[in-house]
Amino acid sequence: MTKHITQKRVDAKQPFSLTSAAFFENPYPFYDHLRSIGPLYKGSLLKNRGWYVTGYEEALAILKDTRFQNRIPLPQTTKKYEFLKNIQNNMMVYKNQPDHKRLRFLVSKAFTPKMAEKYRPCIVETANDLLNGVQNKMDVVSDFAFPLASLVIAKILGVPAEDRYLFREWSIILLQTIDFTRSRKELHKGNDKIIKLIDYFRVLIKKRKQNPRNDLISMLIKEEDKVSEEELLSTCILLLIAGHETTVNLISNSIFALINHPDQFRKLKENPSLTERAVEEFLRFESPTQMIARYASEDIEINKNIIEKGEQVYILLGAVNRDPQKFIAPNRLDITRKSNYHLAFGHGVHFCLGASLARMEAQMAIHTLMHRITDLQLDAAELQWRNLMGFRSLEKLPITFQNME
Ligand code: HEM
Repeated sequence: MTKHITQKRVDAKQPFSLTSAAFFENPYPFYDHLRSIGPLYKGSLLKNRGWYVTGYEEALAILKDTRFQNRIPLPQTTKKYEFLKNIQNNMMVYKNQPDHKRLRFLVSKAFTPKMAEKYRPCIVETANDLLNGVQNKMDVVSDFAFPLASLVIAKILGVPAEDRYLFREWSIILLQTIDFTRSRKELHKGNDKIIKLIDYFRVLIKKRKQNPRNDLISMLIKEEDKVSEEELLSTCILLLIAGHETTVNLISNSIFALINHPDQFRKLKENPSLTERAVEEFLRFESPTQMIARYASEDIEINKNIIEKGEQVYILLGAVNRDPQKFIAPNRLDITRKSNYHLAFGHGVHFCLGASLARMEAQMAIHTLMHRITDLQLDAAELQWRNLMGFRSLEKLPITFQNME
C-alpha cells in the first residue's frame, strides 16, 4: 500500500485544546476547526499521538472494520494500577473476539427492547416521585437524572437501591481513570479508591451466591462455567457505570438543549408525540459519549490514509454527529429531524448494549418533565461542565420552574 498522509497542523493560535475548560464548555467550534483540516487528523491533540476522526463516513468505516480493535486505555506495560487494569481487562468493552462475544451474549438477554419496555412503568413512577419532591427549583443532574437512571440499573443488577449514592463517587473515579490525559497521581488515587468498589461487589456476589434472587447478578452466577470470577466482577462494574452515567448525561444534556432552544421546547410541549424523535436529536446534538478509541491490528487504509499497525484511533463522536457531509445544518437542534443516523451509541460489534434502555429512560424522563413543569429557566451562573475526557457531562444543571400540578 502506498502511504498517503496529508499531514497538517492545527493552527497554533487556535483557542482550544482538547483538555481546556473552553473545550469542555463548548467542544463544537474546536471539532469544526479540526474537521476543516480533514476528516482524519494525525497528531498529538491529547497526551497520546494518534488519529482523530471527525468525519462520519470515516468513523463508520472504522467501526465496521473488526481489524480495528479495542484495548484498555491504561498502559499494559506498567505494573502499576494493578486493580484498575484487572477490572478494565475483564470488561467486554475492551475485549476482542471470541471473549467479547461470549461475555456480551451472557448479559444481552437482560437488555433487549422487550426488557426495556418492562421498566417503563417504574421509570415513569420514579420520575413523577422525584418531581413531587421538588418545588420551583432543582439541580437536574442530582435531583432528577441521577436518582432516576441509577435506580433503574440498580434494580436490573440487584444492587440495593439505597447504596446507589455510593456509586456516584466511584463511578466518577472510574471514568477519570479511563481518561488517559489524567496525571499519574490521579490514576494512583483512582486505583486505591477502586478497591472499595471491588470489595462492595465481591461481598454482593457472595451474598447472591448464597441466596440467589431474580436479578442479573444472580443470573450471571448461574453461568459460572462460562464466566470467570474476575469477569463477573468487571461485568457488574461496567453495567453499573455504563448503565447510569451516560444516561444521566443524556437526560441532563437534553434539558440543557431544550432550555437553550425555546422554539424547540415549545414544539415538544405542544407535540409530546415528538419525544422519541427528539431524544434521537439530543443524542446527536449533545452526544453523551464524545469519544471512543480503537487501534489498528494491521495496516489499514481509510479514505486514502494508511493507519499503521498499532496506531491509536480516536473517534470523536460529538464531531462525527455534526458532520455537515452527513447531516443538514448539523449545528441546528431540530427535534423533527428525519433519517437521524447518529453514532451516539457507537456501531458494529460493540454497539451500546443498553441503547434501548437508555432511549426509554430519556424519553420517559423528558416526557414526564415536560408534562409536570413549565417556565424552565437556567441558573447560568451555577451551570458546570465536568472536565471528563470523552464525555459531554454536566456536573450541575440548576434550573427554576413552575410546578404545573
Ligand atoms: C457500549 C454509549 C447507555 C451499557 C457503548 C458504546 C457507546 C455507548 C458509544 C460503544 C463503545 C465502543 O464502541 O467502544 C452510551 C450512551 C448511553 C448508554 C450514549 C446513554 C445515553 C448504556 C446503558 C447501558 C450501557 C443504559 C446499560 C447497561 C453498555 C455496554 C457497552 C456499551 C455494556 C459495551 C458493549 C460491547 O462492548 O459490546 N455505549 N451508552 N450503555 N454500553 Fe452504552
